[in-house]
Amino acid sequence: MFKVRLFKPVDMFSAIKLASETLPEQYNPSLFNYFYETFPQGFIVAEKAHKIIGFIIGVKTNPEYVKILMLSVLELHRRQNIGSALLTQFLKEISIENVKYIELEVRTDNKKAIKFYQKHGFEITKKITEFYQNGEDAYTMKRDI
Ligand SMILES: CC(C)(COP(=O)(O)OP(=O)(O)OC[C@H]1O[C@@H](n2cnc3c(N)ncnc32)[C@H](O)[C@@H]1OP(=O)(O)O)[C@@H](O)C(=O)NCCC(=O)NCCS
Repeated sequence: MFKVRLFKPVDMFSAIKLASETLPEQYNPSLFNYFYETFPQGFIVAEKAHKIIGFIIGVKTNPEYVKILMLSVLELHRRQNIGSALLTQFLKEISIENVKYIELEVRTDNKKAIKFYQKHGFEITKKITEFYQNGEDAYTMKRDI
């Protein structure tokens, strides 16, 4: 079994490693600490046998919105509801923030993630051309809280 819980600074190395192995975008490691310090309730990890196997990071972008910046599950552990559990816990953590919407950007060719978010009630609202470092396009997806 896995458990989801708030990120702790001791998880930092594992989270950065997981991000670099599973997400195409390269993030400056200092960003992880920045997100943790600015919105700790939005940084949640999934742990199994003392190993970090997934995480989600989101921040509050204005009084009405939170934005998911990263979501990743180790490949070996996908399709076991871990991404869903991370998102559910994230929604729980932000429920006291009084925000109305949750949004995110996803690569237009990332069909798995688009399906995942659609299953969780997100809809594509717009396309942003050349959003990513490598020039790929993004969809913005959004849902009510
Ligand atoms: C997207 C991601 C986080 C999903 O995590 P996960 O733990 O595998 O997701 P879950 O097991 O909770 O899946 C829930 C539902 O999402 C959909 N889904 C998830 N993965 C899917 C896939 N590979 N193909 C089609 N639908 C998929 C399904 O509807 C699934 O329900 P089901 O298994 O009952 O059919 C994971 O694939 C991942 O880490 N991908 C790489 C990083 C990434 O793309 N992150 C998002 C970028 S913003």
